[in-house]
Amino acid sequence: MDHKKEKAKEKREKRRQEISLLRTIPYSDHRKWWSSDTVAVVTGANRGIGFEISHQLASHGLTVVLTSRETGVGEEAVKVMQEGGLNVAFHQLDIVDHASVEAFSDWIKETYGGLDILINNAGVSFNVGTENSMEHAETVIQTNYFGTKNMTNAMIPLMRPSPSGGRIVSVSSRLGRLNGKKNRITNVTLRQQLEDVDSLSEELIDNTVKFFLEQVKEGTWESGGWPQVFTDYSVSKLAVNAYTRLMARILEDRPEGHKIYINCYCPGWVKTAMTGWSGHISPEDAADTAVWLALLPDQFVSGKFWAERREISF
Ligand SMILES: NC(=O)c1ccc[n+]([C@@H]2O[C@H](COP(=O)([O-])OP(=O)(O)OC[C@H]3O[C@@H](n4cnc5c(N)ncnc54)[C@H](OP(=O)(O)O)[C@@H]3O)[C@@H](O)[C@H]2O)c1
Repeated sequence: MDHKKEKAKEKREKRRQEISLLRTIPYSDHRKWWSSDTVAVVTGANRGIGFEISHQLASHGLTVVLTSRETGVGEEAVKVMQEGGLNVAFHQLDIVDHASVEAFSDWIKETYGGLDILINNAGVSFNVGTENSMEHAETVIQTNYFGTKNMTNAMIPLMRPSPSGGRIVSVSSRLGRLNGKKNRITNVTLRQQLEDVDSLSEELIDNTVKFFLEQVKEGTWESGGWPQVFTDYSVSKLAVNAYTRLMARILEDRPEGHKIYINCYCPGWVKTAMTGWSGHISPEDAADTAVWLALLPDQFVSGKFWAERREISF
């Protein structure tokens, strides 16, 4: 192995150890605001990062609702955790299917009177390695952005009042950063519009992704100044990030006892089906920041983008 590769491997291993160490920091009692009555809903949780987030939240003693679009695999995943003595329930949920979201909303209201934590984890990506096909762009945008929005909008009215506040965490990606060194939108005006939280609107975000999809249909997206790698996925996560900031602004005026805090994070490049198991971070380590954000004590943060428990810029 050449020197450069060896250095990169060492760096990765060091990071892996650092993350593992962070995970061992106990959520000591004085920080603990949750109980076995606290209900956390995780989307796309039958495998990968979502499964791990569910597992870790349940291991912290919460009641977890593991959801999955396929009933069989979801029930199997729940069984594994229940056999380990964890308090995990299952319900079918396809985040792009309005009827499914509605049925889930009715069920969670009837069963638990609502929820306390929502983890928007479900997502898709169809390109691996250096591929950048737009064949599935519509599904990617519909799932990652509109699906996340569907669930957030449906769950906000069902968030149970609590002095600790409801929490929403969306699993996003650094690929969707507005101002990253690489892979950013080249249209400076659009970037500034998406960055300015005061003028940010749902219409602007929706129109941005719709314009991208129109260019995909017309075959002109390559000259559209969009992110250069995993373009459809990057646009979808950029929209999730912008939506997180917008929602934090909208939610900030809620009265005490009805607060809801919303954040997003990048789990890194993770060994899951999505990357063809080529990532270098385990799903366990990738789940850590989601769980940490969901269980933050009363030092409320909202509308931020995180990686490895640290705030990063959008
Ligand atoms: N892996 C990475 O390196 C990486 C990096 C950055 C961000 N992320 C994000 O992390 C999240 C989890 O990804 P992962 O790596 O764990 O991938 P994964 O193993 O492919 O898991 C994705 C999950 O989302 C579910 N899903 C897809 N479409 C859905 C829909 N319409 N409704 C409900 N569930 C749906 C999948 O269900 P099925 O089993 O039915 O397909 C699966 O359970 C995603 O949001 C992804 O974008 C991943």
